[in-house]
Amino acid sequence: MGSFIFTANKLDANQHLRSRKVHQLIEFFKKCSGEAVDIGRAAFLTSLNLLSNTIFSKDMTDPYQNSEDGKKFSELVWNILVEVGKPDLRDYFPVLKWIGPQGINRRLTDYVEKLLKLFDGLINERFELKRRGNSGKNGATDMLDELLKMLQTNEIDRTQIQHLFLDLFVAGTDTTSSTVEWAMAEILRNPETILVKAKAELNQVIGKGKIIEEADISRLPYLQCIVKETLRLHPPAPFLVARQVQEEVQLCGHTIPKNSQVLINAWSIGRDPLIWKNSWSFQPERFMDCRVDVSGYNYELIPFGAGRRKCQGLPLAMRMVPVMLGSLINCFDWILEGGIAAEEVDMEEKFGITLAKLHPLRAAPSNF
Ligand code: HEM
Repeated sequence: MGSFIFTANKLDANQHLRSRKVHQLIEFFKKCSGEAVDIGRAAFLTSLNLLSNTIFSKDMTDPYQNSEDGKKFSELVWNILVEVGKPDLRDYFPVLKWIGPQGINRRLTDYVEKLLKLFDGLINERFELKRRGNSGKNGATDMLDELLKMLQTNEIDRTQIQHLFLDLFVAGTDTTSSTVEWAMAEILRNPETILVKAKAELNQVIGKGKIIEEADISRLPYLQCIVKETLRLHPPAPFLVARQVQEEVQLCGHTIPKNSQVLINAWSIGRDPLIWKNSWSFQPERFMDCRVDVSGYNYELIPFGAGRRKCQGLPLAMRMVPVMLGSLINCFDWILEGGIAAEEVDMEEKFGITLAKLHPLRAAPSNF
């Protein structure tokens, strides 16, 4: 499903909608000039709108006005991510399942139901617009249009559409924004080297102070290396998605029994000193002239997973992350909150549904 939805052609067709959202993010930061902001939070709200514009050609949250509807949507997605990320003791001690729920399921069900209802409202709204002969978006076809066509030919039902949207928002927002946040943290920790080099490339290829467009990414090899290096050290889904073994397997002298749950530790593969030189050090240059890519064919770097379960949003993520990150670097100088020194940026991790920074990165943009 996803591979048909996020083809290059389809993403090209609505890239102007995403571009508008990145422009708004930069405008927002310009207004905050001199004031420290939570970079991950701003990137999260922008990622929500980048995704909702890709799917429905519509903003789902208003990060800058705090409107009630906008807040409701972003809070629902955020709360679902928080609940899904909490360890459920019953997974480790199945006996607890008989004793009673931990509260997570109840809250989660409530949030999910509200979000599904909201998606249902959007489906109704689009049907109504179509009935009135007005798509409300200058005739361009988006993912919702395609799915409604499939709905009318019974290839998909309404519940499946709602659940697909749920999957996309839950899987696609925090992963994207946390990558932007980690990348910024790594860059701001290395102002004399990596930041200088990234700014120089952007200055030369795009021009100082300009916002990056998706079409520019292929001309920014160093920026792409920064993104890969960030995903190597900080894969947002460090254990990928759990698998279950269908048959007993012999692997490296071990027997993996049928039905075992298998977690793949992409985090530790990315830091394996047998594969990576100076494996714990952030060195984007290692990817210059290196054939290793993140698309799931090189097992030494699998932040998006591999095989049939591979991330469906990879083509979109590899547009959103460099565009947001490149624009943040190219449009501002950054001052860490509280005047802390670059080498003191803390890099502690917190494990939820994604591997987030324990302490959010806060820095003040300053216009040139
Ligand atoms: C930097 C950003 C992202 C990273 C690192 C990432 C990573 C991953 C990983 C590791 C998986 C599991 C793959 C496996 O187990 O083999 C996954 C699954 C998935 N991702 Fe992403 N993802 C990102 C962004 C996105 C975006 C933007 C979307 C959609 C808009 C998306 C949608 C999905 C979906 C639908 C799945 C399948 C979930 C399932 O199997 O239940 N992801 N992603």
